[in-house]
This record gives sequence, structure tokens and C-alpha cells, in this order.
Amino acid sequence: MENSWAANILVTGGCGFIGSNFIRHLLAQPMFTGRIVNVDALTYAGNPLSLADVVAAHGARYRLAHLDICDADGLAALAAEEAIDLIVHFAAESHVDRSIVSPDAFVQTNIVGTHVLLQLARRLPRLTRFHHVSTDEVYGSLGPEGFFTEETPYQPNSPYSASKAASDHLVRAYHATYGLPVTISNCSNNYGPYHFPEKLIPLMILNGLAGKPLPVYGDGQQVRDWLYVEDHCAAIEAILRGGRPGETYNVGGRNELTNLAVVEQICDLLDELAPPLPGGAARRGLIAFVKDRPGHDRRYAIDCGKLERELGWHPVETFGSGLRQTVQWYLEHEEWVAQVRSGAYQDWIKTQYGTP
Ligand code: NAD
Ligand code: DAU
Repeated sequence: MENSWAANILVTGGCGFIGSNFIRHLLAQPMFTGRIVNVDALTYAGNPLSLADVVAAHGARYRLAHLDICDADGLAALAAEEAIDLIVHFAAESHVDRSIVSPDAFVQTNIVGTHVLLQLARRLPRLTRFHHVSTDEVYGSLGPEGFFTEETPYQPNSPYSASKAASDHLVRAYHATYGLPVTISNCSNNYGPYHFPEKLIPLMILNGLAGKPLPVYGDGQQVRDWLYVEDHCAAIEAILRGGRPGETYNVGGRNELTNLAVVEQICDLLDELAPPLPGGAARRGLIAFVKDRPGHDRRYAIDCGKLERELGWHPVETFGSGLRQTVQWYLEHEEWVAQVRSGAYQDWIKTQYGTP
């Protein structure tokens, strides 16, 4: 690999959880001397605040373009201003529970939006890679044994995972049909800083901190394979630099845990690190089993051997080390939490950035 990497990268969804961590990760690499243009519609899940430190440290090499990925004309105008070498596509509606209640936005952003971006990509003369960030949920649900490999047939079970599966197929088809230099990564559950507090881990941390009930769906025995977000960012960087066009790479943390075990570990960490609950009650007592998610996938587990063998990537954090850092981060970032949760914050976004 070369020592210096000067690419102009268009990142979509860079104000979300993984996208913001990825932009911070890449701009902090000494060998990365390029520039990042972040296309984000700033939905409820997109927070420019998550990149305030990046703007302060690397403002000259970073630009936020407040745009919807379904806006073909807006993207074309942006592309005319920026000489884009690479696209890294994170933007999506990402929450399974929301997709069950209101699937329309998932079809629009995840399928139509990906298609609009692919059409743009075909017209970019300098483009060397379109990297599509996807999910292990496209493979469906596992029994107690076995792992998802890159060859596992697709069997998505929620409107979210079905929309991501459709987007993966479009990306693959643009490689087969038009020779677009694509790569796809299918990743397991991420956790870490800047995770929007509707997802399991940040929701449980914040509810546990406040002494509120911790809602565990069904029997809590569903299994997820947890990956620290910084490890995911390093995997995407490795795929951009060394991955083979047309290939899919699975990314996982080798950290299979039941949801109940995850919530119990969060309770114990909060008891250790946060102010005690009234009367010193243990937070495990806040766990409440609630109605199950419809179509709830039982188990996900990723075989990430291809990525490890071909590109030498390995996850660095164990679940214990990553979860401790994550709990600590939420304890130290009350202001971020209050802002992303407040209606006032969404109003502020509109006055700052308008409607995309
Ligand atoms: P997120 O919900 O935190 O962020 C999504 C971002 O996309 C937000 O900044 C939002 O404003 C933006 N966005 C949404 N609709 C848009 C549109 N129409 N145009 C432009 N921007 C738009 O999501 P995340 O958890 O960071 O996930 C990022 C990607 O990674 C998604 O594609 C998701 O499917 C995939 N993924 C996530 C996980 C996970 O555990 N979070 C695991 C595997 C794969
Ligand atoms: O596997 C990758 C996927 O991981 C990504 O593609 C998705 O974008 C991301 O949201 C995540 O999906 P999950 O549905 O697995 O994540 P979530 O945090 O919503 O839930 C994790 C597990 O915890 C799941 O089995 C449902 C359960 N759960 C979730 C919430 C929010 C609960 O038991 N209680 C809850 O309150």
C-alpha cells in the first residue's frame, strides 16, 4: 500500500452513527491527505454535532452538503463542483422497529436513494470505487449453530433488511452490467460513541442511568454479534484500500451475546461507573421483559474470515473493553444526548440547514 492517500471521498450519511465515526477515523489517519464531502439529509438520526470536533480539527478538508441522496439534480450539481474519486455509502434509514411501523422511508432512501447514487457514480469520470455499507440482516436468521458467509443466500425478514437486500442487489448489478467498481460490506451490530439512543445499547445505557425500565423484547435470548464501531471503520478503510472490485466482505466482531447478557453487562457497568440508584438498588432490577418485535430474527453470527485472510483486518476491541468505553462516553456526553433527543434540536437543524 502507498504511504500517502489523497482521494476525494464522497461519504453519504456521514452525520449518522457509523458515518460520523468513519469520517473522524479517516481524517485522523496521517497517511490520508485527501478531502471528504459528506452528503446528509439530516434526518432525526443525522447530527452535525457529532462532527463538531472534526470541523474544528480538519475543517479545510471537510464539507457538509445538506442533500437527500434521492435528489439526483442536487447530487449532479455537487459532483460538478467536487472531483470525486470514491463514494462510501452509509446513508440509510437504519432502525428495524421504525421500518415495521413506517416502511415507506426505508424503500425511498435505502432502495431509490442507492439507485440514484449508482446512476451518479456511473457518470463520475474519476471514480475508482463505490463502497456500499450493508448489514448481516440481509441473510435472515440463524439457528443455534453456523455463521453467515459471503455465500449465504439472502432471506431478509424485516422491511429494513429487505430494503438493504434490494440495495445490495442493485449495487452488485451495476458491477455486473456496467462494470462499476463496487465493493459491499455486510456488517454485524455496531456499538460505540454517537449511537442514536433508539438502538439497544445506548437506550439501555441512558435508561439505566436514569433509573428507568430496561425493555427487553420477548425472552431476551436473541443473539447478536457485536462490533465496536472503530473496528468497523478500520474494516471499511481496509476494503477501500485493498478490497477487490465486485466483491462482498462480511464484517463481524466475534462477540456473540444474547440481548439479556448485553443488558446485564450494561447494568453492572453503570452500577460501577455511574452515580448509584436511590437506595443503592442494583440496575439489573430495572430489566422488564416486553412484547417481542414482530418477525424478530433469533440469531446473527458473522464469519469474517475472508476479510481477515485477504486484507489482514482483525477486530481490536473485545466486547468488555468496547462496552466500558461506550458507557464511559455516554456518561461524559450528556449534552450530546440531550441535544439529539430534543425537539428543539430538530428545530435548530431546520433553521441552520433548511429542508434538503
Ligand atoms: P444512522 O441511522 O445512525 O445514520 C444514518 C444517516 O443517514 C443519518 O445521518 C441520516 O441523516 C442519513 N440519511 C438518512 N436518509 C438520508 C437520505 N435520504 N439522504 C441523505 N442522508 C440520509 O445509521 P448507522 O447506524 O450509522 O448506519 C449506517 C449504515 O450502516 C446504514 O446503511 C446501515 O444499514 C448500515 N449498518 C448499520 C449497522 C449498525 O449496527 N448500526 C450494522 C450494519 C450495517
Ligand atoms: O445486524 C446489523 C443491524 O444491527 C443493522 O443493520 C441495523 O441498522 C441496526 O439497527 C442493528 O439492528 P438490530 O435490530 O439488531 O438492533 P437494535 O439495537 O434495534 O436491537 C438489537 C437487539 O435488541 C434486537 O434483537 C432487538 C433487541 N431490543 C432492541 C431494543 C431497541 C430489545 O430487546 N429492546 C429494545 O428496546
